[in-house]
Amino acid sequence: MAEPLLPALSRLRAEILDDEHLVRALATGRRRGREEPRYRRVELRYVDLKGGRHLQVTAYDGTQALTSNHRDPREVLDDLLDLPFGNWHVDTDVRSHQLRVTKKGEALLHTTERAEATAPQRSHDQAKERLLAEDHPVLRALGIADEQGRVKPSRQAKYRQVEEFLRALDAALDDATRAGRLRVPTTEDPLRVVDLGCGNAYLTFAAHAWLSERLPVALTGVDVKEQSRRHNSEVAAGLGVDGSVRFVQAGIADVQLEQAPDVVLALHACDTATDDALFRAVEWEADLVLAAPCCHHDLSAQLRREPTPPGYDALTRDGILRERLADTLTDAVRASLLRIEGYRVDVVEFVDSAHTPRNTLLRAVRTSGPGRDRSGDREDYDRLVGTWRLRPALAELLAGRGA
Ligand SMILES: C[S@@+](CC[C@H](N)C(=O)[O-])C[C@H]1O[C@@H](n2cnc3c(N)ncnc32)[C@H](O)[C@@H]1O
Repeated sequence: MAEPLLPALSRLRAEILDDEHLVRALATGRRRGREEPRYRRVELRYVDLKGGRHLQVTAYDGTQALTSNHRDPREVLDDLLDLPFGNWHVDTDVRSHQLRVTKKGEALLHTTERAEATAPQRSHDQAKERLLAEDHPVLRALGIADEQGRVKPSRQAKYRQVEEFLRALDAALDDATRAGRLRVPTTEDPLRVVDLGCGNAYLTFAAHAWLSERLPVALTGVDVKEQSRRHNSEVAAGLGVDGSVRFVQAGIADVQLEQAPDVVLALHACDTATDDALFRAVEWEADLVLAAPCCHHDLSAQLRREPTPPGYDALTRDGILRERLADTLTDAVRASLLRIEGYRVDVVEFVDSAHTPRNTLLRAVRTSGPGRDRSGDREDYDRLVGTWRLRPALAELLAGRGA
């Protein structure tokens, strides 16, 4: 039953300030009719540092995670409780509290007892801790870690890239599930995830290892190379996960899956293979799409061919700026087209640029089917591609639907 918001938040405040029992707290979403909170999501937990126990706050804005530690947590907590988040989820070792703010600005607070007590983790800087420990068997099987379970120096960048992609996937799944945008999978009907352009399937296996400990999941890796399919299928059999991870040799544009996936992943699928992946995601009506594009040759070539619109010469005169402009235009156009197709899209950095320059991630959650008025998005998109005389690959694919 709904109740006044302030006393309900104040009860949660007391639970969060209880550093003996808090496991973690999470604030997400926005209250109806209110502005977006400063952060998309905030996670709170206690960590034991040299100077004693601190509240660790990890705040996700549009582009990155900001972590801070607070010896006296009251001020920062009060600031966070003042933000117009729509949901608070607080886990203690014995209880879970779920608070949702209603349309009328009241609180719906639901408390459940945990079937089994969970001990809070207080280790330092868990935000930087690995989702997959270095000695996880999957990393050895993939050749990322050596026999002693240490990541090989030459594979550090790949390890970090996959870890950060997993972190983004984990947060996106969590957000989409809480917002009711993603179905709750069951053993009979597991979450269907496809990894398009999977290559050696580092991400596919890592995602399986991470997700399968949390929910029923079935993964399919797709790559145009037969050698990839053969090698990855052997690794799956060696790990004993071939029942829930399978590989298909096919082009992204024409792969046939038995059932449409819920989640589409594409990590560095080359050039317009990312457009193929986004197009298939739209066709499949996938609820969640995470795509980190690779090289951007298509629009780059178009920019070289077409005359620069009046007033923009400074952007295209020098090769390096023209290439960067092409990168930006490519991903901006992809995001716009997905919005027109009914997705909520963020373009974020998923791994530090020191580790790879290919560090952009398109994160798209399906929010509506056809029918919602997208004319504003469409006008903006038409103006952008009209000004630059672009014919983006994804637009061509979408235009050809049903043809
Ligand atoms: C740069 S690799 C990335 C591999 C993997 N996702 C990763 O990040 O480790 C790109 C992969 O996409 C595959 N690929 C490129 N175009 C494709 C297409 N149209 N259909 C299927 N696979 C494709 C390539 O064979 C290659 O294995």
